[in-house]
Amino acid sequence: MSLPKACIFDLDGVIVDTVPAHYTAWKAMAEEVGVDFDEKENENLKGVSRFESMKHILSLGNIEKTDDEVNAYTERKNAIYVDIISSMTPADILPGVVEFIDKLKANNIAIAIGSASKNTPVILKCVGLDKVFKVIVDGNQITKSKPNPEVFLKGAEQLGFAPDECVVLEDAISGVKAAKAGGMKCIGVGHPEVLSEADIVVDDLTSVDIDFLKALYSNEELHQA
Ligand code: BG6
Ligand code: MG
Repeated sequence: MSLPKACIFDLDGVIVDTVPAHYTAWKAMAEEVGVDFDEKENENLKGVSRFESMKHILSLGNIEKTDDEVNAYTERKNAIYVDIISSMTPADILPGVVEFIDKLKANNIAIAIGSASKNTPVILKCVGLDKVFKVIVDGNQITKSKPNPEVFLKGAEQLGFAPDECVVLEDAISGVKAAKAGGMKCIGVGHPEVLSEADIVVDDLTSVDIDFLKALYSNEELHQA
């Protein structure tokens, strides 16, 4: 049985628990423009860039704004968001992440970040993971938002591996689509009914280890954790 050469991790909602902070900040913007916005709708914003997320909220209310106006909202959203996440510590790393990273390193499997977030460097520093990943591709280096596979393809390229030698870990519908569009296996982190396009879905990374990865990568039948 073979193993992948690399794992590419999404950041928000896979490594760190930033989803509530994003939701709080987007909800404030939705209220400002008078649009109903709940956690179910928030699923559609996961993995999506700041600009596209604000455009999505506006589209829910059929509201037209210029790009400059959209940018002004995203700046305010980001100020609220950064204020919340700046107090993050290693305690905000999600369950199983550190243990899984240690196992990957012990088995010579390279690790990378593939995130839409421009706040990636700040977040990794806050939680003490800024020196852990071989490659970091984030929102500052990509031009196409997930579900476009650009972020993961760049990650694979910078690692020096073919896309099908990499496994992606994702909590977003758009991120799972991006991984599959890039020709990668994808472990969904969250609910199977939401992440139905993933190869397998786990609640969190406590259910993932090297044998799990081997089975997934070798196309063996996997059972939901
Ligand atoms: C993704 C999040 O990781 O990054 C999205 O899932 C977010 O919710 C996107 O909009 C961009 O993040 P940031 O930090 O650049 O606003
Ligand atoms: Mg995410």
